[in-house]
Amino acid sequence: MSGNAAENRRVPRHLAIILDGNGRWAKRRGLPRLMGHRAGLRKLEEMVHLVKREGIRYFSVYAFSTENWTRPPMEVEGLMSLFRYYIRHKVEAIKAEGARIRFCGRKDKMPPDLLEQMHWAEERTKDETTLDFILCINYGGRAEVLDAMNALIKDGYDGPVTEEALRQHFYLPDVPDPDLIVRTSGELRLSNFWLWEAAYSEFYFTDIHWPDFDEAALKAALADYAGRERRYGGLSS
Ligand code: IPE
Ligand code: IPE
Ligand code: MG
Repeated sequence: MSGNAAENRRVPRHLAIILDGNGRWAKRRGLPRLMGHRAGLRKLEEMVHLVKREGIRYFSVYAFSTENWTRPPMEVEGLMSLFRYYIRHKVEAIKAEGARIRFCGRKDKMPPDLLEQMHWAEERTKDETTLDFILCINYGGRAEVLDAMNALIKDGYDGPVTEEALRQHFYLPDVPDPDLIVRTSGELRLSNFWLWEAAYSEFYFTDIHWPDFDEAALKAALADYAGRERRYGGLSS
């Protein structure tokens, strides 16, 4: 799957990955958990390159959930510092891939300087059109649906709430639903990722810890997806 992959309908338009297993990757090597997070974030630059080459248009990654604040403060602060470091140092390389960086999630609880940096990264890459690289940080699917409902109420929306009206108030209303959701590290759950949007997503689970996820692992996930039949409640073709 390469070359004219963009024309191949069996390539997901939107690939989403739940970046799980950084802690276990570190533990297996006798390293602190934050070293696993560092290795996991480092992996993203290579993935952006590979995903672009496959002809995928939207690539979202779940990097920090609304529930991850319950982790020990040292891990949370360490993660925020790693986000700071990687945004500062990787924006140019990601831009050079033709990727537009977008963040998805709640702004509350986030360190203000990190929010400013996120805004800067979005501005810096806003004209790139090859790939949308979406980092879900402080994201929760339930929070997104609630935020959209509250935004509708605040707008004075009058009348039955439709799927379309709700969607227009999601964090990134223009982004299509994920076609394929990959989760690394062996857990078989969504953990509050793309809750509404995952209604008809295909799922792929692998035991590989995120920092070890490589080109072969990506190709295996995409090959599996290419063999799926998506029916959306209809009959097989
Ligand atoms: C995923 O790795 C990254 C975040 C959730 C921030 P984990 O930190 O969940 O790693 P494990 O699941 O403990 O191995
Ligand atoms: C899901 O992983 C969230 C992210 C990868 C950011 P977790 O490690 O937080 O999920 P659970 O706790 O195993 O469900
Ligand atoms: Mg985990």
